[in-house]
Amino acid sequence: MSNGQSSFIEIRQINRVYFDTTGRQTVALQDVDLDIEKGEFISFIGPSGCGKTTLLRLIAGLDSPQSGTLKMEGKPVGKPSHERGYVFQQAALFPWKTVEDNIATGLKARNIYKEKKGDVAKYIDMIGLNGFEKAYPHEISGGMAQRVAIARALINEPKVLLLDEPLGALDAFTRIDLQNTIRKIWEATGTTIALVTHDVDEAIFMSDHIVIMTARPGKISEIVDVKLTGERDRNDNDFIVLRRYVLDKLHLAGGHDKPQPVPLEDRVIGGDGEAI
Ligand SMILES: Nc1ncnc2c1ncn2[C@@H]1O[C@H](COP(=O)(O)OP(=O)(O)OP(=O)(O)O)[C@@H](O)[C@H]1O
Ligand SMILES: [Mg+2]
Repeated sequence: MSNGQSSFIEIRQINRVYFDTTGRQTVALQDVDLDIEKGEFISFIGPSGCGKTTLLRLIAGLDSPQSGTLKMEGKPVGKPSHERGYVFQQAALFPWKTVEDNIATGLKARNIYKEKKGDVAKYIDMIGLNGFEKAYPHEISGGMAQRVAIARALINEPKVLLLDEPLGALDAFTRIDLQNTIRKIWEATGTTIALVTHDVDEAIFMSDHIVIMTARPGKISEIVDVKLTGERDRNDNDFIVLRRYVLDKLHLAGGHDKPQPVPLEDRVIGGDGEAI
């Protein structure tokens, strides 16, 4: 993904170790290098605990590494900024605020609500929440709550939108619907998007590049380019071939239990010399 010049987001030799109270350490990320170019849609996939959230939090500036550098547009990522929107797996809305007030949060925090007021309706429309402006979080579904969370990040016009499994808890139909919405928004706004997912189809359908990670210590094992042209179709042959490839790589990454065939030479050899 790097063109040899400095990238939009540049991650170099990142290490992040967690220590618990007994001093036991977990190497969440080890020597991670990654380049993300402006406007790309990149997804992260890998077994539970391989460091996907840790990496996304570092990019957001919500956490910092023990060693290594992380830059956006050539500048070190310091603290969180509205330039890097973050959406959590659980929508984490303000329960006492309506849908439109939740979405307007960033504008108010930055004292630009007066001049940007019209954007609230714009993003409500873009994310498909028309008619629910005055609803409270307890009155809407999980899928709608995630739409609010995404709109709340988008209204700040972030340079990068970081999505940590935002669709993980949704039913299949809602999930596909929101995948389409997010892809359309990406096409319309050109915002760089980094998405964590456990769903191979989602990664292929949504992104330009799929970063496959391995567990403990968390590393990048491979970056797969999604070279599908035209409308993406989950039943298309190229899609199916890519799905099989990514699934095979994930099994090698140790994330999913799959019975492995015993190599012929390791099998017990019967008295007549036949493998049994
Ligand atoms: N605050 C923390 N303190 C101690 N260990 C942590 C902390 N946060 C994460 N870890 C550990 O670091 C490793 C990576 O965690 P992380 O949450 O980044 O994984 P993940 O790939 O997002 O997993 P999942 O797919 O389950 O969300 C795990 O082993 C986790 O237990
Ligand atoms: Mg996670």
